[in-house]
Amino acid sequence: MVARTFGKFARSRDTAIIILKMLPWALLLPSIMLVGGNLAQELPEYVLPDSVPLEDGDSFDYIVVGAGGAGTPAAARLALSGASVLLVEAGGDPNLNTRIPGIYLTLHGSALDWQYPTVTNNISCLSYSDKQCRFGRGKCLGGSTSINFMMYVRGNHRDYDELGIEGWAWKDLKPFFLKYEGLQDLDKLPCTSIPYHNTSGTMKIGFFGDSENSWHSRTIRGYRYLNFPFNYDVNAKSQIGISHIIGYVNEGERMSTARSYLTRDDVISALKVTKNTHCTGVILDNYNNAIGIKAVVKDENQNRTLQLYARKEIVLSAGTIGTPQILMLSGIGPASQLHDLGIPVRADLPVGDTLIEHVYPQIYASVNPDTSMSSQSEAMERWLYDRTGPLATIGLTDLTAFFNTRCYDVGQRKLVYNSSDCEIPTMQLTNLYLDVGLHQENFGVNEAIAQQLTAENEKKSLMYLGPTVLRPFSRGNIRLASIDPLQNPSIFPNFLADERDVDEMLRGITIVEHLIETPEFKVQNASIVHLKLPGCPEYEDDREGYWRCYCRYMTTSLLHAVGTARLGPVVDPQQRVHGVKRLRVADLSVLPEVPRGNTAAVAIAIGERVADFVLKDTDKYT
Ligand SMILES: Cc1cc2nc3c(=O)[nH]c(=O)nc-3n(C[C@H](O)[C@H](O)[C@H](O)COP(=O)(O)OP(=O)(O)OC[C@H]3O[C@@H](n4cnc5c(N)ncnc54)[C@H](O)[C@@H]3O)c2cc1C
Ligand SMILES: *[C@@H]1O[C@H](CO)[C@@H](O)[C@H](O)[C@H]1NC(C)=O
Ligand SMILES: *[C@@H]1O[C@H](CO)[C@@H](O)[C@H](O)[C@H]1NC(C)=O
Ligand SMILES: *[C@@H]1O[C@H](CO)[C@@H](O)[C@H](O)[C@H]1NC(C)=O
Ligand SMILES: *[C@@H]1O[C@H](CO)[C@@H](O)[C@H](O)[C@H]1NC(C)=O
Ligand SMILES: *[C@@H]1O[C@H](CO)[C@@H](O)[C@H](O)[C@H]1NC(C)=O
Repeated sequence: MVARTFGKFARSRDTAIIILKMLPWALLLPSIMLVGGNLAQELPEYVLPDSVPLEDGDSFDYIVVGAGGAGTPAAARLALSGASVLLVEAGGDPNLNTRIPGIYLTLHGSALDWQYPTVTNNISCLSYSDKQCRFGRGKCLGGSTSINFMMYVRGNHRDYDELGIEGWAWKDLKPFFLKYEGLQDLDKLPCTSIPYHNTSGTMKIGFFGDSENSWHSRTIRGYRYLNFPFNYDVNAKSQIGISHIIGYVNEGERMSTARSYLTRDDVISALKVTKNTHCTGVILDNYNNAIGIKAVVKDENQNRTLQLYARKEIVLSAGTIGTPQILMLSGIGPASQLHDLGIPVRADLPVGDTLIEHVYPQIYASVNPDTSMSSQSEAMERWLYDRTGPLATIGLTDLTAFFNTRCYDVGQRKLVYNSSDCEIPTMQLTNLYLDVGLHQENFGVNEAIAQQLTAENEKKSLMYLGPTVLRPFSRGNIRLASIDPLQNPSIFPNFLADERDVDEMLRGITIVEHLIETPEFKVQNASIVHLKLPGCPEYEDDREGYWRCYCRYMTTSLLHAVGTARLGPVVDPQQRVHGVKRLRVADLSVLPEVPRGNTAAVAIAIGERVADFVLKDTDKYT
């Protein structure tokens, strides 16, 4: 077995340079040099599988396409059953930066991100160059779980019950959430949480350490002032309140699906993996049996096109963007569009027709800087030595609030509980703290706006708040932009096409304004930044008009897209593609609605479960 020792990366000077390039802090150079010599002993090593050598025509029992949130557990479970399984991933290994929680923001938009372009609807994302909303997705082992913000949230139980699809209620999915959960911090939760957790699953998760930022406790007190309950565990009975959430973190390092599943000895010896291998379509025989895939393998200096065969089944787990693209390239999609592109239609299905995504306006408040924080170089040294300190955390981002905006009393400035609907959140409010001088153009907004923020950030810190619409009404879509499989598909998020999404944002903005006006914030000279947006009314003249317009300029995606190969019209409840045999979809594209929370947890549960569905049918193919 050839396997690479991942930790060795850390020994090379190259890696230190990579970190430097990625970090927003150029000041780190001396400290990296200083500790460089000691890295080898300090940074624990782990082993990810190497690519297996492949020949055209090779066959396996199962092929799983996409090593992300869902594909990795799906392939690992199938391989552990004793079957021969090939896991196909377009990207390569995640790099050292993915291990450091504190620099999570630098991964979005990096070389590990597909950096998909989007098509504008002219009424959202107006502040970005070419009005293109950013639409990140991970491209490496672990997929988006290698670059995401590491928040472990399952959503609301009703998200699953309300689907009304047999086998997809909360009670059906719960065992799969529990199966993979390796919670290290059960002792820090109230005992009422026990039935909702498992401590021995493959994905090690836990609380982030102390971010050592005084804004952390201050922010909690601010929300408490508005009568938000403190919620110890959003993954237990109630989701409502301000919470210090659990993360995909263990001993100060990110736990992606790659790190968790693909480093298991039993998985390494059972599973075959091919990296830098872009699936370009599914091969169907004359009877619409999926019998293999086409793929382009990027070797050092050539691109090889291979046909790889599956004796039993193929599972597509290329994500909400990748999966519909592969389906449509294979003739599985809306007939009229496939006709237009000259692709023979094998199954006329509404693939790509609904793209649903969490969306928020980026709101900034300027606040007095925290004075207790350690210097950036000190933080890096501490992480490198023993994975502690602020870089072992995601800072203020592990504070998240879930609430129903209809249960907020604007006059009294408090969250109320006057109906059972108040248990169903309509909004997630995310929090981020940017220390003085850290504002980067990498948030994607155009120069005129970036300059205003950089100026605000010169002497003061910025709080970045995201009042996220959990159940948007707007629907977008994914289409093929070209029959060239290596071209990106056309992604049309169509944010804010429905004004009700702006209404909800507005309700959230009022709460953000009140938060910034709480005594906790006021004494720290907090104030909302009213960006000058050409084309919008002045805030002073027309508050509501200003914010409605602002939402259309500062539109941002929380990167949770679902819905492009829905349960029902595209796949059956066992995730089999209608009209085709031996082909399943296992990733977020199957969800007909976006859960009221972050989405990696359900992606992993879907991956765990599809293996059971597949193995139940295994006798059909012998
Ligand atoms: C920047 C960012 C931050 C996020 N923050 C959070 C968070 O804090 N908490 C949370 O729960 N969720 C978060 N999410 C969302 C979450 O990570 C995703 O919803 C989840 O990982 C989706 O799982 P998936 O299996 O559907 O797709 P992915 O995890 O995206 O995996 C798809 C995989 O398929 C591969 N692939 C695609 N096309 C092909 C092809 N043609 N051939 C071969 N391989 C292909 C991709 O490279 C990728 O590895 C975030 C996402 C992003 C991008
Ligand atoms: C957006 O505006 C451009 C330029 O006017 C136009 O070509 C395009 O069709 C518009 N898109 C939509 C969805 O309205
Ligand atoms: C906890 O995880 C272990 C390991 O995956 C599994 O065997 C066990 O069934 C899980 N417990 C529950 C309650 O799901
Ligand atoms: C391989 O394909 C990629 C496009 O995906 C291209 O950029 C690259 O130049 C190709 N390499 C070779 C050696 O043909
Ligand atoms: C609950 O309180 C909110 C905020 O005051 C109010 O808007 C709403 O109408 C109330 N709902 C019920 C059912 O009383
Ligand atoms: C708040 O700002 C005022 C002037 O704008 C200043 O005098 C005061 O010292 C500031 N307060 C704090 C706590 O920094």
